[in-house]
Amino acid sequence: MAKTSTGSTPAPIPFEQRVRVEAAAKIPPALDALVLGVYEDGDRVAQGAADLPEELRLLVEEIIKLPDFKGKPGAVHNVPGRGTIKRVVLAGLGKRDQADADVFRWAGAAVARLVRGLEIHRCGLVLPGNLAPGTSAPVAARGLAEGILLGAHAYEQMKPAVKKPGAAEKKPATGPVLFTIIISEPQALRDSMEPVRAGAIVGEATNYARTLASTPGNVMHPGAVVAEARRMAREFNLKCTVIDAAEAKKLGMNGLLAVGEASAYPPALVILEHTGGRGAKTLAVVGKTVTFDTGGISIKPAADMDAMKYDKCGGMAVLGLMRAVSQLRLPNRVLGVLPIAENAVGGKAYRPGGSVTMANGKTVEITNTDAEGRLILADALSYVCQTYQPRAVVDMATLTGGVIVALGGVYGGLFSNNDELAQALEKAGQASGDWLWRLPLHPRYEPLMEGYHANLQNSGIREAHPVQGGIFLQHFVPADMPWAHLDIAGVATTKKEDRYISKGASGFGVRLLVRLLEDYGER
Ligand code: BES
Ligand code: MN
Ligand code: ZN
Repeated sequence: MAKTSTGSTPAPIPFEQRVRVEAAAKIPPALDALVLGVYEDGDRVAQGAADLPEELRLLVEEIIKLPDFKGKPGAVHNVPGRGTIKRVVLAGLGKRDQADADVFRWAGAAVARLVRGLEIHRCGLVLPGNLAPGTSAPVAARGLAEGILLGAHAYEQMKPAVKKPGAAEKKPATGPVLFTIIISEPQALRDSMEPVRAGAIVGEATNYARTLASTPGNVMHPGAVVAEARRMAREFNLKCTVIDAAEAKKLGMNGLLAVGEASAYPPALVILEHTGGRGAKTLAVVGKTVTFDTGGISIKPAADMDAMKYDKCGGMAVLGLMRAVSQLRLPNRVLGVLPIAENAVGGKAYRPGGSVTMANGKTVEITNTDAEGRLILADALSYVCQTYQPRAVVDMATLTGGVIVALGGVYGGLFSNNDELAQALEKAGQASGDWLWRLPLHPRYEPLMEGYHANLQNSGIREAHPVQGGIFLQHFVPADMPWAHLDIAGVATTKKEDRYISKGASGFGVRLLVRLLEDYGER
């Protein structure tokens, strides 16, 4: 039985989202804030609410003449309102031609951030009628809904309010904030109802993944991840299979076992399953879940090692994805797979120079215990491909520092043996805002991963590290299986606020893969 906690480790605090989003035809009566979009060019005021009171329209016309409000994307300007509308917020949408889903995500997030600091519980947002030619009402409305949820996120679970002695009891938190996206054109409203619901679900699932990812390694250790996966599966009606360390041993998953060997918390493999429609094709998604990466015996430097609590971001995105997939009732069968281990240091730790026989029988010479992600992913990939024979498999991992050097925090690295899958992922990336850039897997790179005393080595010379990761993993996927590896080390977290993502875990991959499933459909 997996150990789930020790005396010194608190249990994770449950995730709760205090923001709701809906769509409606009219401005609701009595609003704490009404948000109007403003472009940088053209007509400037984004028209849309037929029932906007005349005095408010005039007020806005006055404000946008002031030089301080230019309407840059992500900018917000907050002024007193009139009558039953207590406050008016102007939200920048940039140049009209360029106002795509991402700009609406950004605007939604900027509004949600503003609202967090104010006494606002009812907020209306007027969806512009004059959208960019390539942006439809459903696309803009979904962007807004996602952005509102993303902007409302804050990881504060390890920051309880400290009560000063003698101070009054803090008043209880008020009810959730309700955001209403106002779409006055009847057909646009009908077409946007489902996208708004989907946007809210995906945004909430992303925030769930971000919260889990930010939870420190002493709390979200391997046993706690297993417990959370089980709990979430019950809540969202997913099948959950747990392969514990004893069973992993029987299955020959020595890559997973080696990485987890020195930890007080045994490793595990979790498989969540969303059944989908009858005869639906299966997509398997594997997420690296290293709850903390010390580097092992090949230990990491002390500086910034704390950020290695984020080495579970791939797996946490898979948990968020599975939650969304279930709530959205997507037609495909989806397998969410988490190889879970802590890469610790200790007397039992796996060692450089060691040789490990993986679940598929290939041997790996350990040249660096800090190249641990590929070892746990490899066993998960070969097991899932053999056991379930999915239509396609995607893995997501904070795998290499090299991909941060190459692509920074803008694009995730994409490697694939299949052009159709790669293109579908690139397209889903553009639409979702989780951008991907394809990198090569050319056979000329293969010598980099050849072992001297074993079939493979887990780390080669200081060249093309992100490609080395991809080449290594490819050995654990059948040649005819469409497969993609996403190296998300650069995009899983951000060091400072970026568009609609605040500092910390981004939840990269949740929106991307929901989108892939929506487009890839029944195939
Ligand atoms: N988890 C790290 C990769 C990483 C580094 C993620 C920085 C986020 C920020 C991974 O396990 C690792 O240590 N990779 C090594 C691989 C090398 C030893 C082949 C790296 O990239 O340096
Ligand atoms: Mn490592
Ligand atoms: Zn790692």
